[in-house]
Amino acid sequence: MESNYHDRIPNNVDLRSNRTLQRALEHWQPEFLNWWHGLGPSDFNAAEVYLRTAISVDTKGWATFGYVKMPEYRWGIFLAAPETDRRVGFGDNLGQPAWQQVPGEHRSTLRRLIVTQGDTEPASVEQQRLLGHTAPSLYDLRNLFQVNVEEGRHLWAMVYLLHAYFGRDGREEAEELLERHSGDADKPRILSTFNEPINDWLSFYMFTYFTDRDGKFQLKSLAESSFDPLSRTCRFMLTEEAHHMFVGDTGIGRVIKRTIEVMKELGTDDPAAVRKAGAIDLPTIQRYLNFWFSSSLDLFGGDSSSNAASYFANGLKGRPDEERYEDHLAAEASYTLDLPNGKGGVRQEEIPMRNAMNEVVRESYVRDCEKGLARWNKLLEDASYPHRMVLPSPRFRRTVGSWANTPTDTTGEPISAEEFAARETEWLPTEGDRAYVRSLMKGVFERGKMAGWIAPPERGINAKPTDFEYVLFH
Ligand SMILES: [Fe+2]
Ligand SMILES: [Fe+2]
Repeated sequence: MESNYHDRIPNNVDLRSNRTLQRALEHWQPEFLNWWHGLGPSDFNAAEVYLRTAISVDTKGWATFGYVKMPEYRWGIFLAAPETDRRVGFGDNLGQPAWQQVPGEHRSTLRRLIVTQGDTEPASVEQQRLLGHTAPSLYDLRNLFQVNVEEGRHLWAMVYLLHAYFGRDGREEAEELLERHSGDADKPRILSTFNEPINDWLSFYMFTYFTDRDGKFQLKSLAESSFDPLSRTCRFMLTEEAHHMFVGDTGIGRVIKRTIEVMKELGTDDPAAVRKAGAIDLPTIQRYLNFWFSSSLDLFGGDSSSNAASYFANGLKGRPDEERYEDHLAAEASYTLDLPNGKGGVRQEEIPMRNAMNEVVRESYVRDCEKGLARWNKLLEDASYPHRMVLPSPRFRRTVGSWANTPTDTTGEPISAEEFAARETEWLPTEGDRAYVRSLMKGVFERGKMAGWIAPPERGINAKPTDFEYVLFH
């Protein structure tokens, strides 16, 4: 696959051979740049940022590093290399050739899946647009912008599919991806997590750990799709996504590390004392975690879902790493759900496996989330603190699925609405928590310096030292 990096729109899809498509995308390009200037990172567009740019999908080209002004970042269209004779890997069409075009009967469903994924990409850039001003270091500032430009490229990836395979409807959807805005009262983004404000860096790390990880699982599910261009697009996006989750994982780890240092110096883990010393107390970190984890769980959809069943049956959206399963039909199997019984307890219900696909994916997501907690808890254990970070029960604070509107405690025990209201401040960030965390947010732009509420990273980017000048201001 040849990569045309020097075209106006860098690509490895031979855009030159399709003039109509090329022109349509070149028409969308200035609209994208307008959106970037209006709703992308505020103020830092003249800075030179040490960024990774994909110029092709091979091992040498997918991550080239250099100083770039963000508006000059080369947002390109890159699909993973095609697999010869790829076959449908699951569902009723198992074993048939994968589709290079969109089958008429799945057109509107596939378009909806692509638009829903595409909508999250610019949404997160909008959510994070003011964070540059309060970055704890140049290293973090650079990572924020890396995430932002790549989410912009992920938008390009979805817009390419809409333009190339969905005709006029697709072009209209591509326009609307720039018209909905995160948190907008009239035209919000499609999924609720992507309308939550991200006003501080603790939220940013939680978002990149928990919400970008939802992105990983959605992309893995779509990478299994019988619609081959979608599969190839998502496979390449996953290589970039890994860094976003790394930012969250190490970011939360560094916050906890710094808190431990401060607790050691003070000889106490008293939250008020920790705050007085300018670090973030562990209960506050836990409350932020509870908020973003529970919000991200909703993104997987209902636990019993006829949509999920038909996506699977028709081969549109599979399970992450489908090849690891033995039964690719999942036509006979069943799944047992724990549901609220309406009387303050739990009942079980057996449903067809295909209807439980959202739950199956959510479960593997939860297992993946636990890995970070094990690392963070190791820091606490090594420092001889008994405190441990925990994932709340997936029933806690849900707004989608069977547990929506059933209050539970963080262990998943159903409780009354009154008890939930009385204990909410134990479990979720309070206005006071948010105000305190915001009070710490002051930009640190001096080379090698780090804000006092977070420890420095262990390693730099691309083998550069941690005090490298990751962002140059002129
Ligand atoms: Fe993304
Ligand atoms: Fe991401």
